[in-house]
Amino acid sequence: MEKFVIRGGNKLHGNINISGAKNAALPIIAASVFAGDFCRIENVPDISDVRTMIKILEFLGAKVEKPEAGVIVVDSRNITPVTIPDEMTRKLRASYYLLGALLSNFGKACVALPGGCYFGVRPIDQHIKGFEALGAKVDIENALVNVQCDELYGSSIYLDVVSVGATINVMLAAVKAKGLTVIENAAREPHIVDLANFLNSMGADVRGAGTEVIKIRGVSNMHGCTYSIIPDQIEAGTYMAAVAAVGGDVTIDNVIPKHLESITNKLEDCGVTVIEGDESVRIISEGNRRKACRVKTSPHPGFPTDMQPQFTTLLCTCNGTSTVVEDVWDNRFKYIDQLRRMGANIIVNGDTALITGVDKLHAAPVEADDLRAGAAMVIAGLMAEGETVIGNIKLIDRGYEMLVEKLTGVGADVKRVDFEED
Ligand code: EPZ
Repeated sequence: MEKFVIRGGNKLHGNINISGAKNAALPIIAASVFAGDFCRIENVPDISDVRTMIKILEFLGAKVEKPEAGVIVVDSRNITPVTIPDEMTRKLRASYYLLGALLSNFGKACVALPGGCYFGVRPIDQHIKGFEALGAKVDIENALVNVQCDELYGSSIYLDVVSVGATINVMLAAVKAKGLTVIENAAREPHIVDLANFLNSMGADVRGAGTEVIKIRGVSNMHGCTYSIIPDQIEAGTYMAAVAAVGGDVTIDNVIPKHLESITNKLEDCGVTVIEGDESVRIISEGNRRKACRVKTSPHPGFPTDMQPQFTTLLCTCNGTSTVVEDVWDNRFKYIDQLRRMGANIIVNGDTALITGVDKLHAAPVEADDLRAGAAMVIAGLMAEGETVIGNIKLIDRGYEMLVEKLTGVGADVKRVDFEED
């Protein structure tokens, strides 16, 4: 079983190059079914979630080639909307984007309920509300979501919660619906804009992505395209937090600094220097000057929930008492038990964590509870005295391309080690 072995304490210096965004790549690959043709998709991260999504498309009949690193070419000419079984969807929340895409393109889809990281109940009621508003019939039986329609008609849909997944799924379903669909209270994450740009490159008519109101005018024909995925905001933020926590001077390349503003602002609150370039951010951190701060997660442009575990970890050794409020998910503090094993002083009360800075963390065997919690354990290992061993790293591999290489490239002591079964 593979684990990460980290010897903490090294300051980090140099450059880290950021990969394409996981949470843009997954809906974009799903949306390539609309082309009925070839789509060349660039800046695709080589991570296990993307490999799983490619397998699902191949299962539907697509041919996917990788002509060079970071590029896939999807041939969607022979896709059919067959049932996608549980063993394919269990690993991946984003598998449910095939519901919207296949429904819009073929008038039907049957996809097993999705898996993904567990942070409490993850309902899909807003996805269903959107499909039904467009005229689809939705049944959930034996853990299979079955959606079908004779024809989809544009409609006005107000999302009761700001949901990334529902915004994307309803957008996908509306792409070929007759007439105008208006999604109100839409999520505004950069990956939603990226998906809209990809859909428009294939001939769709989607406007307003990145604002609270998205308008989609249905089209009947779409075509192939070449498209390059945006850089990963959360991967970049994770390395920014790591450098801030451990100390050093690292330039994070291939980013869109605007997407990182909420993270940059909080790092500055902690006393870390962030210098924005055109496509880079430079992080300069001197461990002893860092101070506590207050963080509250919220949908974009707020502080991303997917950075909450990494930031909480950084705060473990900041001077004073920090407050972290998790306002998106009900249950995203589970990993804090692992930080406590490493000497962190954290009290959790409902949606709020109070973190009182300690001088240092110390090494301990820990587990990745989910993708970002796993990234937090990596940061904790880099901060800690001694050798930290992190188990269950397949969850980290879901979202971080070449993590060991990127960290060792800036001076960290991190190895992937294959242990005999425990
Ligand atoms: C996406 O999940 C991301 N996943 C998550 O990132 C991320 O944490 C989340 O957005 C929030 O930013 C992918 O993009 C694949 P939501 P998603 O629908 O779409 C409630 C990572 O680490 N809700 O925006 O599932 C829900 O319970 C992953 O990369 C409903 O009530 O999140 C939550 O409280 C993990 N009904 C809130 O909305 C619904 O129908 C936001 O969820 C849908 C959601």
